[in-house]
Amino acid sequence: MLEKLKELESAAKDKIEAANSLEELKEIRVKILGKKGALTGLLRSLGDVDPEERPVIGKKANVLREELEEFFKLREQILRDAEKEGQWEKERIDVTLPGQPEQIGQIHPLNMILNEIREIFVGLGFQVAYGPDIESDFYNFEALNIPAEHPARDMQDSFYITEQFLLRTHTSPVQIRTMKKMAPQLPVRIIAPGKVFRRDDDATHSPMFHQVEGLAVDENISFADLKGTLLLFAREMFGPDQKIRLRPSFFPFTEPSAEVDISCIMCSGEGCRVCSNTGWLEILGCGMVHPRVLEVSGYNPREVTGFAFGMGVERIAMLKYGIGDLRLFFSNDLRFLKQFG
Ligand code: PHE
Repeated sequence: MLEKLKELESAAKDKIEAANSLEELKEIRVKILGKKGALTGLLRSLGDVDPEERPVIGKKANVLREELEEFFKLREQILRDAEKEGQWEKERIDVTLPGQPEQIGQIHPLNMILNEIREIFVGLGFQVAYGPDIESDFYNFEALNIPAEHPARDMQDSFYITEQFLLRTHTSPVQIRTMKKMAPQLPVRIIAPGKVFRRDDDATHSPMFHQVEGLAVDENISFADLKGTLLLFAREMFGPDQKIRLRPSFFPFTEPSAEVDISCIMCSGEGCRVCSNTGWLEILGCGMVHPRVLEVSGYNPREVTGFAFGMGVERIAMLKYGIGDLRLFFSNDLRFLKQFG
């Protein structure tokens, strides 16, 4: 009987130790300590044992029971811990792994140019003004000395919303809006960036594009101020060796008027494909504010003068970055946009 107890003890301990899951351990427990378990069976057969040995064996069997209980408890704890550990392992975040970089956007090339333009003029004491994209006929044409039947309206084939309202064809209406607001204060010095709209669509024209208007009004503003300002702008924008050239032109709201060219930034004036072998590239229109425009806006043209200019932002960006097709700015193609980081 003692032999049997010993055997049971070592077999039970081995089994408990080998149990790999709580399930398994439970089964083993039933097989040993359960009602029909091995130890229970052994105790039942105690009646067959010599009465003298009975108490000794009985005691041993009870001690073994307690010991095995203890064993089960220990193993159970170990298996429980292991299970938890496994769960943590599954959910663990490895903070040493490289992160997944967020795709962050970047400034649109047109806004980069706009920011540069703004920096240059703010540095010269200009303020930034804005006007609405939908303009009245009065601000877009009439007040700028372009009356209803004037052929100059044909230069800017427009999108009308009603007879009186249209998408502005240029930023020049902001000249009028600003002067009307400020008159008779002096000086007026603003730039007005924004969208403009014309019925044009090809590789170098888009129905929507951007302009920056400039306006300076004060006593004794001369054409030399205009020229000096534009030369400084060209040099800041395109480099210190830039030259500019003014060609006589016509705008109903400036007199005299000029188109401004910069020396070709591709060939430095030698002549190439980009400048059609002229050595020059047109970047803006300008002139001295027409007396009628000053008058409509509340200034006395006998006391004050002013200059104004309007430049195409896409044009400048295309020249600066060597871009051949203006439509790339608006097609949202990341392969294009990502090149301007
Ligand atoms: N508004 C003119 C255009 O869009 C440009 C311009 C602005 C010319 C200011 C002279 C003075 O063509």
